[in-house]
Amino acid sequence: MLCYNQEMQKAPSTTSAVDATTIESFRHTVIEYYRANARHMPWREDTQPYFVLVSEIMLQQTQVSRVLPKFAAFVQRFPTAQALAAAPLADVITAWMGLGYNRRARFLHEAAKKVCQEYAGVFPASINELMSLPGVGINTAGAIMAYAFNQPALYIETNVRTVYMHHFFAGIRNVTDKDIMSVLAASIDTKNPREWYWALMDYGSHLKATQPSNNAQSKHYKKQSRFAGSARQIRGQILRLVMASPITLGALEMKLSDARVSNIVSDLLNDGLIEQRDNDFYLTGQGQVS
Ligand code: ADE
Repeated sequence: MLCYNQEMQKAPSTTSAVDATTIESFRHTVIEYYRANARHMPWREDTQPYFVLVSEIMLQQTQVSRVLPKFAAFVQRFPTAQALAAAPLADVITAWMGLGYNRRARFLHEAAKKVCQEYAGVFPASINELMSLPGVGINTAGAIMAYAFNQPALYIETNVRTVYMHHFFAGIRNVTDKDIMSVLAASIDTKNPREWYWALMDYGSHLKATQPSNNAQSKHYKKQSRFAGSARQIRGQILRLVMASPITLGALEMKLSDARVSNIVSDLLNDGLIEQRDNDFYLTGQGQVS
């Protein structure tokens, strides 16, 4: 393993701290791993920006194995940004069900509408324009630039962080994404950034499965909170009940017998995922035709 002088306990801030031979050897390790173990994913077979956007939003908080079947069903139901934009939000939430963090479904729907209305259905190929799309932050914009447009945007997500923490910052505390960014910039394959990031994803996923994690030492590391008994779980249950048939608050409270139901219903209303008609709650746009 290649790493900085651990006695310093301080991450270097410039790329000059890593010499060219070290970078070359690191690149070799990543690429060799990828050559032998590349994973096949539909959004890698077809890198059109719409597929990349859908997959990246799904992958923001959900594992690849759970995304694969959902992605296939989603793009079958909504094969283009135009088809997605034209559908009622209720249909999008329904297709999203099971992935969790359902606000992402609304963001994706709104992003598709924006691409259709403001960009005539053609995805913009710049970080700033991509970041103007709902649900697209700097990392998702970077991922779209790399995967859809093969541009060497620098972005860091959990697998990328795992790789660089493991190789360059093992045992070092308070590593910032800026520290990682400088080594990423020095090592990215500027001719084929798409493949470089695929390789980082697969190698990072392998390291996660086989090595003790260094990610907690990154300043930007976020631990996933427990799902069982969480408000997130109740949100999902409420959405499922509302999807099955329009339902009152009283009936939701009776079925779920949890003191948080009323507040969570308010949150779902605020998030635009459900709406009230008379006394009943519906998924937003439920019953509308596309
Ligand atoms: N390939 C492309 N994007 C990916 C991601 N976010 N995670 C894993 N593999 C990917």
